[in-house]
Amino acid sequence: MKLTKFKDPLPIPPVLKSKWRTEEYTYYEVFMQETKQSFHSELPKTTIWGYEGIYPGPTIEAEMGERVFVKWMNDLPERHLFPIDHTVHGAEKEKSTVRTVVHLHGGRTEPASDGYPDAWFTKGFASQGPFFEKMIYEYQNRQSSRTLWYHDHAIGVTRLNIYAGLAGFYLIRDSQERSLNLPTSKHEIPLMIQDRSFHEDGSLFYPEQPEDNKSGITPSIIPSFFGDTIVVNGKVWPYLEVEPRKYRFRMLNGANARFFRLNMDSGQLFFQIGSDSGFLEQPVGVKSLLLAPAERADVIIDFSNLGGKSITLKNDAPTHFPIGDPVDPQTTGIVMQFRVTKLLSSIDTSVIPANMGTINRLPVQSAGQHRFLELSEEKDLYGRSFFLLDKKKWDDPITENPWLGSTEIWNFVNTNGDDHPIHVHLVQFQILLRQPFDVDHYKNTRQIKYTGPPVLPEFGERGWKDTVKCPPSHVTSIIIPFFPFTGQYVWHCHMLEHEDYEMMRPYQVLPPS
Ligand code: C2O
Ligand code: CU
Repeated sequence: MKLTKFKDPLPIPPVLKSKWRTEEYTYYEVFMQETKQSFHSELPKTTIWGYEGIYPGPTIEAEMGERVFVKWMNDLPERHLFPIDHTVHGAEKEKSTVRTVVHLHGGRTEPASDGYPDAWFTKGFASQGPFFEKMIYEYQNRQSSRTLWYHDHAIGVTRLNIYAGLAGFYLIRDSQERSLNLPTSKHEIPLMIQDRSFHEDGSLFYPEQPEDNKSGITPSIIPSFFGDTIVVNGKVWPYLEVEPRKYRFRMLNGANARFFRLNMDSGQLFFQIGSDSGFLEQPVGVKSLLLAPAERADVIIDFSNLGGKSITLKNDAPTHFPIGDPVDPQTTGIVMQFRVTKLLSSIDTSVIPANMGTINRLPVQSAGQHRFLELSEEKDLYGRSFFLLDKKKWDDPITENPWLGSTEIWNFVNTNGDDHPIHVHLVQFQILLRQPFDVDHYKNTRQIKYTGPPVLPEFGERGWKDTVKCPPSHVTSIIIPFFPFTGQYVWHCHMLEHEDYEMMRPYQVLPPS
């Protein structure tokens, strides 16, 4: 299917309106609904699932410290849009297939509101998962300004629910952010970058089985989904008309499994000012910006001297990063276009700040527990390959149980060929280093023999993070303070096919003894 590039303007998700707002709190209601939406003007309309019936969902804007309550409601049809593999944990035959639960990614959220995968619910809350506790979720937003996102997290169908459209932005703001004089309002734009594939009739295509299916299971989960079309904010290869001035973009890799390594054909720099969890100390000017699924980058792009020009945002990250197929320069290598065709609406007084504050590095000595957690590739009962964390499955007993208020170092020992973005709920962490090691030696002896010096995180990774790329044949070490809640959460790979198929583990924050 050939779709003309840069045919449709970039949509910008609307900001969600509250049902009521008092001095103490704000209350929202959100319905998940099936609707039809146009991904491209040459394509018939596509059935999607959206929060409030739109995809991406409406953006929730919260002020630091604001108490926000959201009643998330499932108003979806009985039948799923995509094939369900009932051999996948939590997606057994007897369960309703249209299960949903919402996770605020990057939020410090109490367990009962965190969207635990087994806290799912169906339409009208008719049936509920074993961990379901409440209909109205609470977000305290005791976090400085940052780019969060909310998305579905139902056990065994997360990959399909998010693919159907269940994802949106959630921005926390504060006075420090306002004091920085960044581009705001119409010059501040969220970009949810994803890949999708379509049938000729416009419907979304999600494979029923891998191409080399030898398992005999149909439908069967695939190892990772890679679409042939790039979509930003729900439009295929859109364009955005901009003024010759600075813009702030909240970039999110919202793909199931595809990494994006972004660059602009003008050769200009992205000035990255924030990572997953707030501002960096200083802006980092980069020509190439690598985002794994679920990672965010807060960037400023300056179009000041580019009046009349068109700039293409491109991608050159291979599939199965870093080892898979290269992008097709005509399709998956193209993301969107900026057209500097608008007149300057006012003098651009916004700045790229020289400094955004200080980030105290957590000292290694502050960590009690050091855990070594292998990311391994395995074969399931049907001969399909899949991934485990610490050789354990979702249903195995909990092994990660930090004390509230403690700090731990988690070392992800990646013994397989893919880079996996590991996400830990509740917390934010710092990346300490990555170090190559001898994988065969480790597999034979369980001993780590390093084969090279440690590598510091990229400059753009030296802020707070909630998702970390763990490259193959490297130990990736992060330092995590566990607070402010006790209770049961999850940690997992954010490649959705992996997390849905055993690359997810529960963990528990214990009350201090
Ligand atoms: Cu963005 Cu556990 O998820
Ligand atoms: Cu993974």
